[in-house]
Amino acid sequence: MRAMVIDRYGPPEVFRENSVRIIPLKEQDVLIRNCATSVNPVDWKVREGYLKERLRLQFPAILGWDSAGIIEKTGDKVTHFKPGDKVFSRPDIARPGTYAEYVVVDESLVAFKPEPLTFLEAASVPLAGLTAWEALKGRSSIGAGQKVLIHGGAGGVGGYAIQLAKAAGCYVITTARALNEEYVRSLGADEVIDYESQDFSSRVHDCDIVLDTVGGKVQDKSFGVLKQGGILVSITEMPDQNKAKNHGVEATWFFLEPDGQKLASLGHLFAEGKIRPTVEHIFSLANIAEAHRMSQQGHVRGKIGIVIDPKEAYQK
Ligand SMILES: NC(=O)c1ccc[n+]([C@@H]2O[C@H](COP(=O)([O-])OP(=O)(O)OC[C@H]3O[C@@H](n4cnc5c(N)ncnc54)[C@H](OP(=O)(O)O)[C@@H]3O)[C@@H](O)[C@H]2O)c1
Repeated sequence: MRAMVIDRYGPPEVFRENSVRIIPLKEQDVLIRNCATSVNPVDWKVREGYLKERLRLQFPAILGWDSAGIIEKTGDKVTHFKPGDKVFSRPDIARPGTYAEYVVVDESLVAFKPEPLTFLEAASVPLAGLTAWEALKGRSSIGAGQKVLIHGGAGGVGGYAIQLAKAAGCYVITTARALNEEYVRSLGADEVIDYESQDFSSRVHDCDIVLDTVGGKVQDKSFGVLKQGGILVSITEMPDQNKAKNHGVEATWFFLEPDGQKLASLGHLFAEGKIRPTVEHIFSLANIAEAHRMSQQGHVRGKIGIVIDPKEAYQK
């Protein structure tokens, strides 16, 4: 199959197109013909070698951990899917990724694609959407009337988090650059703080939940905007537990463990129109290096979609 591979850790220039063998299917695996994928910051962090300790690549390696496509083949013990099914998935990060025509995934990580979404839109959901879901419905528990602060609302995770919190009836505050204010309001933010000209910690208080997608000083200042008993959920770095104790709040961090059932639940919200996909930029797979350069700047609005099969990517 055709794939964009890397032969070593390095800058975006390390990508090259190559013909690669598809790995053999295990009994519980499905083979997905990828119509589209998307870029997440973890992709370029792995490419640069920043996550070497956690994930040691075997070269040539295929990156990419969002898939939307059509089942081509199933392992002997697959029960939920059959060839021809339209699906999406956040595959196992330890196996060859989705910057390729095909990807092999355990069926437990797969869900049916929400019908109203194109493959390109669906591919923007699994990694970022599941992360938002886990932060707000797994590590914390959003509910109607709660005040939630979401840092980085213009980003991939932030955009889905705003919509999830809004759909649950929360009052949603988010931080974003001024040029993204209209965009994050369109996703459901009630209050937007331009972090370049204002300090959120002097404007926000008594939050039930803070989602930290930025880390560093942003995380540090977030303890002080929570109410007693509130929770700081970070996806960037483990918060200081002593600081959490001193503020009378909980604080946690996680690295996403994908789950097909949770993805199916999330998919229903898209199917019902309660959440919309946030693809704001589109590249072809051959142009993946350019997409990485954009992601790496750290100020992408929404998601970067990658077209793998131009005939199918825009189809539902
Ligand atoms: N632990 C996990 O399982 C997990 C899962 C997914 C992602 N992550 C990590 O979480 C982070 C965010 O992921 P993502 O996919 O949302 O990234 P993304 O799509 O690249 O979005 C990042 C967003 O952050 C905003 N931003 C940058 N500096 C900011 C600041 N100081 N204050 C507020 N917003 C700021 C930018 O918007 P503006 O243009 O408005 O600045 C940008 O839209 C990344 O570091 C990623 O690796 C972790």
